[in-house]
Amino acid sequence: MKNITQSMLDAIEQELQRQVARLDQPRTKPFHEMLTYHMGWTGEGAGPLATGKRIRPLITLLSTFSSNSKENGEKSIVINWLHAKSAAAAIELIHNFSLVHDDIQDNSNLRRGRQTAWVKWGAPMAINVGDALFVIANQAVLDLVNHYPADMVVKTASILNDCCLDLTRGQFLDMSYEERNDLSIDDYWPMIGGKTSALLSACTHIGSLLGYAKEEKQEAYRLFGYHLGLAFQVQDDILGIWGDEALIGKSAASDLVEGKNSLPVLFALGKNGKFANRWKEGPITVEEVGAVSAMLEDEGGKEYAEKMSEVETQKALSYLKQANPQGEAGEELLRLANMLLTRKQ
Ligand code: IPE
Ligand code: IPE
Ligand code: MG
Ligand code: MG
Repeated sequence: MKNITQSMLDAIEQELQRQVARLDQPRTKPFHEMLTYHMGWTGEGAGPLATGKRIRPLITLLSTFSSNSKENGEKSIVINWLHAKSAAAAIELIHNFSLVHDDIQDNSNLRRGRQTAWVKWGAPMAINVGDALFVIANQAVLDLVNHYPADMVVKTASILNDCCLDLTRGQFLDMSYEERNDLSIDDYWPMIGGKTSALLSACTHIGSLLGYAKEEKQEAYRLFGYHLGLAFQVQDDILGIWGDEALIGKSAASDLVEGKNSLPVLFALGKNGKFANRWKEGPITVEEVGAVSAMLEDEGGKEYAEKMSEVETQKALSYLKQANPQGEAGEELLRLANMLLTRKQ
């Protein structure tokens, strides 16, 4: 028998394909194919590696299922987690819209081990691909009306839209920081709080809302997702410098070359040593990446980021404990949170 995670991942993939098929119309077939390429279903290298991990929709459905319980004899509505699948798909579509645009913004050539959409079809087309994914995400949310009362659908859409605005604020900070060399670690957390944690907290917030959890419980779930998102982005920063390109499916040089003020960089800048001197001189070239990342490691940037990822994971786990997730889905949520801390991809 399939375990709950595999059943959810299968349902998510099916629902995503159904949602994206809204664009499968005569005359614009190549446009639909751009979306299915980015989603990992078609084109060279299509398959499980090209789809990405799908952790956001999985966390959403695990939050729905694990929060939908009657505790201490309280009355609640027991639902089928499949009823929340269009919300889970909406979140993954938002994530993918943000990746298509992010790869243009970051000048990244590689995503999930394949050429990025803008490299394949040019930035103007890729912007349109991202727009379509964003619109389909909003259509997917409205499909919740088949299983939920209208006020809950509006609440879900509102959480998702607030999160998208936070995401653009985070992206603004991320891009505007590239031009600056007066930043400290305090500037880092609001940036990743927007670009990454907003969406992960929307997963656990929306998930528990759709599980009919009480407000206090929804808040614990939301904070679990928020801190998990912080830990996840710090980990992404580490992998973006010291990761194995074959596993992460992205270039491990581009964060340094693009001048991203990631956590290891901000930490080492505060040390005012060899790394800071080199960083302030101007852009790092691809040839220098090995030597500069070694300097960064020597000055404690990697160790510090690993410590902060651990700190944020522990905060996430304490909110998860407070949320008191139930059953097999609860155990899977805990397992996933621990696994993300040591992830290599
Ligand atoms: C990448 O997210 C963007 C970040 C917020 C770090 P993931 O690492 O979840 O990307 P995929 O979907 O698995 O490719
Ligand atoms: C992650 O941005 C968040 C978004 C895509 C909005 P990054 O630029 O840090 O993520 P990767 O490393 O390209 O996946
Ligand atoms: Mg970026
Ligand atoms: Mg990027």
